[in-house]
Amino acid sequence: MTTFVARKGWVAGPRAMIVAVALLLGGCGGAVDRICHGAATGGKQFVSAVPLGAAVRWQHVKDSPAYGRFFLDHYQWMTPENELKMDALEPERGRFDFQTADAMVNWALAHGKHVHGHVLIWDSQLPNWLASSRPLDRASALRIMGTYIRTVLRHFRGRIGEWDVVNEAFQSDGSYKHNLWYKALGPDYIGDAFAIARATDPHVRLCYNDDGIELPGPHADAALALVKALRVRDLIDCVGFETHVSPPGPPQGAMAAELRRFAATGVDVLISELDVRLTRHESLDAQAKTYADVARACRSVRKCVRITTWGFTDASSWLGSAARGLPFNALCQPKPAWRALTTALATTTTTPR
Ligand code: XIL
Repeated sequence: MTTFVARKGWVAGPRAMIVAVALLLGGCGGAVDRICHGAATGGKQFVSAVPLGAAVRWQHVKDSPAYGRFFLDHYQWMTPENELKMDALEPERGRFDFQTADAMVNWALAHGKHVHGHVLIWDSQLPNWLASSRPLDRASALRIMGTYIRTVLRHFRGRIGEWDVVNEAFQSDGSYKHNLWYKALGPDYIGDAFAIARATDPHVRLCYNDDGIELPGPHADAALALVKALRVRDLIDCVGFETHVSPPGPPQGAMAAELRRFAATGVDVLISELDVRLTRHESLDAQAKTYADVARACRSVRKCVRITTWGFTDASSWLGSAARGLPFNALCQPKPAWRALTTALATTTTTPR
């Protein structure tokens, strides 16, 4: 259980209104330097049954101290949204650039937060030198993968205690994605990546992360089979359920059953990238219900250790602000979704500080 501060006093001041207008006129790109400016002050204690995390963009923290402060006030875990991906860390072959990632990770740690590392091996957001290379032969693929995992894990040793080692390895029909790693190494690329990570730093918790495994089906079955195989070799500690959904979203009972099915292998499970995309016709209340269902599903499973949303304000979401997918609106005011989330997770509420 973790104690953290939930804000109150959400009334938008005039400055916030200016930001709102700017956001509406400029889209989410134009006014990001003011994100969360003028948002809530004051606070009350909220004890969450499950720690909360959020994806964070470092550029926003630099441009808008209010955005960073808002994150620090509401969340215990940070997942850098893009800053730990391969295109960011190894922009040229053999040249690693940790400047941004270090600043971001150190900032979070200095404020008492934990960092979830996302992601070591994936087929997206690869550096150009790799994405545009000729098909890799086995030896080169292993060398590139090994150097990358070892260099990154060693660099963050003692600072990042948990990493997504492999992300999104399957298609929705449960077959392996034939990505660059698969083409060179076959399905073993996954076990190889985990084995290298384990050997490099046995203290780091190693996760598999995937989208579309919140409900039973061929995709979840394939991921579960993978997790079991890795578990036998003691190579995996956690599974992230991305949970990019739209209302009504996964029914609470069905999702809890799915979380339990994975947890039964011995791993921890976490909701790793939650957002709830809305179309024009869907209401914020419908969204809130989906947030509550996911939160209750996680809370009901002992080994569900965290809920991380993919961002926190609609002003900065990979879905775009029109999707309104996150618990705080573009002014960083709480939506029904935030109240639903915190209600579903609250153990006690005490008086304002
Ligand atoms: C997304 C980021 O949010 C975007 O900013 C970026 O342009 C593309 O990647 N699954 C994942 C995340 O595992 O890394 C993705 O993040 C969203 C889907």
